[in-house]
Amino acid sequence: MPAPPDSPMHDASPGIATPPDPGSLRTVRLCLLGFGNVAREFCALLARQESALADSHGLRVLVTAVGTRHGSLLAPDGMSGGAVLEAAGLGPASGTPVSAADAPVAAASGRPTLPDPPRLAADLLAAAHADVLVELTVMEGHGAPAATAHIETAFALGLDVVTANKGPIAWNWARIAELARNAGRRIRFESTVMDGLPVFSLLELALPDCRLLGFEAVFNSTTNFMIDAMSEGVSFADALAHAQADGYAEADPAHDIDGWDAACKAASLANVAMDARITPADIERQSLSDVPLERIRQARAEGKRLRLVTTVWRAAADEGKAGSATPAGPATPAGPVRGRLEARELTIDHPLAALGDESLGAILHTDLMGDIFVAELGALVPQTAYGVYADLVHLCRTR
Ligand SMILES: NC(=O)c1ccc[n+]([C@@H]2O[C@H](COP(=O)([O-])OP(=O)(O)OC[C@H]3O[C@@H](n4cnc5c(N)ncnc54)[C@H](OP(=O)(O)O)[C@@H]3O)[C@@H](O)[C@H]2O)c1
Repeated sequence: MPAPPDSPMHDASPGIATPPDPGSLRTVRLCLLGFGNVAREFCALLARQESALADSHGLRVLVTAVGTRHGSLLAPDGMSGGAVLEAAGLGPASGTPVSAADAPVAAASGRPTLPDPPRLAADLLAAAHADVLVELTVMEGHGAPAATAHIETAFALGLDVVTANKGPIAWNWARIAELARNAGRRIRFESTVMDGLPVFSLLELALPDCRLLGFEAVFNSTTNFMIDAMSEGVSFADALAHAQADGYAEADPAHDIDGWDAACKAASLANVAMDARITPADIERQSLSDVPLERIRQARAEGKRLRLVTTVWRAAADEGKAGSATPAGPATPAGPVRGRLEARELTIDHPLAALGDESLGAILHTDLMGDIFVAELGALVPQTAYGVYADLVHLCRTR
């Protein structure tokens, strides 16, 4: 996926960073919208990486504002990630070094209480005087209107954006990309598709001139978890209850089970890397609730693994006529992009069959590099927070 110089993702870094001049730290101010699991883990990571950010990148990263629907924090002089956690009643005292072992615990312990009343996102963004919006709210509603508005406001105020929220990319990528170009701003979103696993960066930075032709992916760990439990005879309802108790399932489990989560991820990747111009509603979906328990158990008995696999391909321009392309067949660049999520019995030699309940992965079909398999064997909150961190570093290296 070559990113042209005017691309909202464009990163012109030479690849290996040159150590910055000692003593010449550049301050980067962040406005955080959303202060849930990922944002807290991200703050802990900022605290842990303070020296690395300074020594390797010449950066001092400060948070000037945090907002949720229940509270806010405005810090015109900027606060470190550790100080933000402390202000929310979660972390160690400001200035106390946060160890690698302590930080995730600090980020996860208890609910945050931001000190100030909630503010409208637009007001907070205007007051933050930040360089980058880190958008970590949830995708709500058809078309993700709230999160999309946050990003649009940020561009209008001259901020770049990093987000893990797949909603805006899945539903509104064409508009967001155009707004970013017009405003001369950039946006990165590595954690939207596979919880921090580099997919966009891989295509953009490591595979110049390589086109993504299509992909097959396992995008949702909740359904992996449930399928593996059901293969051992657990009922659908009990598997769902376990997924919720173990913190796998989203607040609305239908998002996972009915395939909306996977469809959003597929649309995001297809929109950005294949110029698909689709929405999640364009992805055909099979719900896990429509897959009989017996089918899952049978797959296991035959030594196979059932997975909900999303396949995306570019159809032939003459789709529907005799001889047009199928997911496995040749593609015509001018054709529309299609997607389908369905239960498939995978034989053990299929790369996606190796993905356990916390794993996500994709086979990327490319023109110049053939098929590439990327996988993450523990797709959890720290990986998502790292994806946000990596996006921020990429942005800052070229500001
Ligand atoms: N958890 C993961 O591992 C993971 C992986 C990949 C991607 N993501 C994505 O990353 C984002 C954050 O995930 P999370 O797990 O941190 O979610 P979370 O724990 O549910 O936290 C969401 C935060 O967003 C705030 N919020 C929601 N709507 C808002 C609005 N309209 N304006 C301001 N604040 C709002 C919530 O606070 P209030 O309730 O007070 O509003 C809360 O602080 C989501 O989009 C998610 O899909 C998460």
